[in-house]
Amino acid sequence: MIEFRNVSKYYKNNWLALNKVNLFFEKGQFYYLIGKSGAGKSTILKMIYMDIFPSEGEVIVGNYSSKTIKQNEIPLLRRKIGVIFQDFKLLKDRNVYDNVAFALQVTGEKYQNIRKKTLEALSLVKISHKRNSFPYQLSGGEQQKVAIARALVKEPFILIADEPTGNVDPEGTKDIMEILFDINTKGTAILMATHDYSLIKTSIGKVVGLREGKIVKPEDIFKLDLSGGKE
Ligand SMILES: Nc1ncnc2c1ncn2[C@@H]1O[C@H](COP(=O)(O)OP(=O)(O)OP(=O)(O)O)[C@@H](O)[C@H]1O
Ligand SMILES: [Mg+2]
Repeated sequence: MIEFRNVSKYYKNNWLALNKVNLFFEKGQFYYLIGKSGAGKSTILKMIYMDIFPSEGEVIVGNYSSKTIKQNEIPLLRRKIGVIFQDFKLLKDRNVYDNVAFALQVTGEKYQNIRKKTLEALSLVKISHKRNSFPYQLSGGEQQKVAIARALVKEPFILIADEPTGNVDPEGTKDIMEILFDINTKGTAILMATHDYSLIKTSIGKVVGLREGKIVKPEDIFKLDLSGGKE
């Protein structure tokens, strides 16, 4: 479904953020991408929705390749990928309902379908009762639920979550993780970057470790952190 073939990434300052990464993400699975700040987690995620491109190597997402995708195909790819961020990125001047509906309006769906799908998505993340509220009236956890609904309403094959609980309190974090597990059970693959290892349930997901731009065994990352190792 998603494949990284020998991917390296140099940023403009010649900083090597990813170093010959090979990865394969299968349909319907739950993946944790773990590693310290600066390890390259967000770089990997951005390559999947083709916000950035490899300096070397190739990223394959479904039928698209980073080597051959055309500029006008990128929006089509992104329709099938849900993305949520640590800082939610909701539209501040729109209420909860409109934040979610907007994701479908831009695809030209019919009004009736937009309404049905939006209400379903809000109900799935248990935020229907706040549909008329504005983002500033919501807690971090509630805002993230709205962001999840907005991602899901496009019926993506994968939901990419970049540190989704970073601005959410412990109670909200529990809710968000339950929602992600629930979405995964219904068939959507999840790829979640986090440096909060306490969120990992190995019974549910596979763990990919990343250190200084290289894939490493998750155990190596745990060991280093537990021993207070420097990076
Ligand atoms: N636009 C950029 N220009 C230059 N360097 C960058 C850029 N984006 C990221 N980097 C560098 O690349 C490395 C990997 O960054 P990345 O954001 O992928 O890390 P991360 O694992 O997501 O970290 P965090 O946990 O802090 O979000 C870091 O050293 C970072 O400083
Ligand atoms: Mg990051």
